[in-house]
Amino acid sequence: MQFSMVPLNFLPADGVADYVSSGTWSKKASRRAKRCGRVNVAATTEETNFNHLPTAFNYSADAAYVHFTTNETIHGVEFMTEPYSGDKPLICDMSSDIASHPLNVAKYALIYAGAQKNLGPAGATLVILREDMLERVPEGLHTMLDYKVMAENDSLYNTPPCFGIYIIGLVAKHWLGLGGLRAVAELNQRKAGYIYQAIDGSDGFYRGHAEKAARSLMNITFRMPTEDLEKQLISEATAAGFNGLKGTGPWAACERRSTTRSRWRGAKRSRSLWGTSRRRTARGFAPLRHRMPRSTPARGISFCLRQPRW
Ligand SMILES: Cc1ncc(COP(=O)(O)O)c(C=O)c1O
Repeated sequence: MQFSMVPLNFLPADGVADYVSSGTWSKKASRRAKRCGRVNVAATTEETNFNHLPTAFNYSADAAYVHFTTNETIHGVEFMTEPYSGDKPLICDMSSDIASHPLNVAKYALIYAGAQKNLGPAGATLVILREDMLERVPEGLHTMLDYKVMAENDSLYNTPPCFGIYIIGLVAKHWLGLGGLRAVAELNQRKAGYIYQAIDGSDGFYRGHAEKAARSLMNITFRMPTEDLEKQLISEATAAGFNGLKGTGPWAACERRSTTRSRWRGAKRSRSLWGTSRRRTARGFAPLRHRMPRSTPARGISFCLRQPRW
């Protein structure tokens, strides 16, 4: 919904919006915006299957805003700093790395993030909107798509997803107990480090998808030596009770706020499942509870390990 709300609220009929396309999700966002108005794709890395971050940006002189996605869930590339947008309002989809590290929200005109990755259950979306942006919202939008209506009604224009919001509150308290987002970021560094070490130390058996400089701390993407091996992995994983792995881009080990360090150690112990031996053991893996979205490229596999505690 945010892919549509952003242009409906902030892309004037005679205006243009700049979109940075660094993976599946930012590309989808720009496509959706095209239904509402003129879009300039200021940069894209699609020609290399989104395996790095763009370095050159062809911004419009009069862009209504610049949109980018901090962390591309499917392709595993992550912006560690914002792309330069000059004095243009910076709008960002942070669905998959929100609250994974401290953030200076003052740099943004609007941040949106679906709750289901890092914050809590699906159904709630966090929107942080700079107040002056509300002056740009045109009259006559459908009420549920109008940020002004949401702001004027303290996000209570319709019945909010109370349970989801309650859980988000508990998750936030949990982070505070850990020492805040700085501590969460350190934990993420360590967890991602384990998996990248396994990839880099595999003598080329696992091939990281994202270039090292662009590697995400949240979604670690990799391929295996051949598609046959990937198929074998899928069938062995299915036999071991890991259903629904097939169907997305590169393999992605997705860290969620609920993935424990000990679980990653478990994943390391279970390397045999990942193709080096035919031993079918999933010991140490958490049960698979979450599948990546259906709407992603058809090749490869992606999955998330989830556990209800750190
Ligand atoms: C970065 C990013 N943006 C947007 C979405 C879409 O979220 P939803 O499934 O809530 O539409 C996803 C989903 O995985 C995502 O990873």
